[in-house]
Amino acid sequence: MQKQVLSLLKQTDGYLSGEEISRRLGVSRAAVWKAVRALREKGYEIDSVTNRGYRLSSQPDLLDAAAIQAGLSTHSLGRNIIILEETDSTNEEGKRQGAAGAPDGTLCLAERQTGGKGRLGRVWSSPAGAGVWMTLLLRPQLAPKEATQLTLIAGLSVCQAIRRLTDCDAMIKWPNDVVIGRKKVCGILTELAADMERIHYVLVGIGINANLPEFQGELQKKATSLLLETGHKINRAALIQAVLEEFEAYYDRFLTDLTADFITPYEALCVSLNRRVSVIRGGREITGQSIGLNQEGELLIRTDSGDILEIGSGEVTVQGIY
Ligand code: BTN
Repeated sequence: MQKQVLSLLKQTDGYLSGEEISRRLGVSRAAVWKAVRALREKGYEIDSVTNRGYRLSSQPDLLDAAAIQAGLSTHSLGRNIIILEETDSTNEEGKRQGAAGAPDGTLCLAERQTGGKGRLGRVWSSPAGAGVWMTLLLRPQLAPKEATQLTLIAGLSVCQAIRRLTDCDAMIKWPNDVVIGRKKVCGILTELAADMERIHYVLVGIGINANLPEFQGELQKKATSLLLETGHKINRAALIQAVLEEFEAYYDRFLTDLTADFITPYEALCVSLNRRVSVIRGGREITGQSIGLNQEGELLIRTDSGDILEIGSGEVTVQGIY
């Protein structure tokens, strides 16, 4: 029904009345209205004027594999692309693809996630057509504990990709949030399928608030989008390309040499350093000063009692940043 309504609106220059659409398709006016509502949720802008009807004023910028691969300089990332209009979570899709034998570097993208997942069991809001909701399926020859570095590499890559394409001073909030000013523009959720010694595959899930025009409720204070920061829409295909290219450069170096230094560029963009921080550890809040990262990417904190803590996971709150 949505396809048929859309096709009629596309064929019409001006307005087409709901009555005319329902007559031509042989359905009720309510069914037409429902289809229009569903299309709007997918990002189609449809004006409606009393006594005139509906008019398609703009179409969403839909993800397209050919557009992403055109000019992409990577050798393995994004060579196999799966694009879904809707999925539960691209990480879940990545798991299904991984279990079915999809190749290293497979990129899963969705216009909309119905069960977008954040870290620590949180929900990741993923409306249609406006964000970059992507998961990279990787099959590195690494031990499970080495995979945490991939999350840091992902954060660094997104941060650099945003800087490459916009004037935004994107920074990394350790370990892997990308922020602009005090607000988060990207989150990363890495999941593993592994046994004790060997990784079967890794899912690097990246959510970038690219063209979201607004945020509701609590998120207004904490989240931002590239559209809100720059005042114009970003080309999602170009953003995905830039992320893949930045990621692959670090990823290749890391796989060849696990001591390859990505910490120096990471530290240069990390907003969590030399700040008052608090961290939840074993259910207890510890405060101190963040003084740097070690080679494993763990955050070094000099606690108020003078101890040096190496924090590999857990919720770190940096004063002044949501
Ligand atoms: C966080 O900051 O809490 C992590 C958010 C990760 C969101 C991305 S969107 C693509 C991928 N699919 C998911 O369900 N989550 C990640």
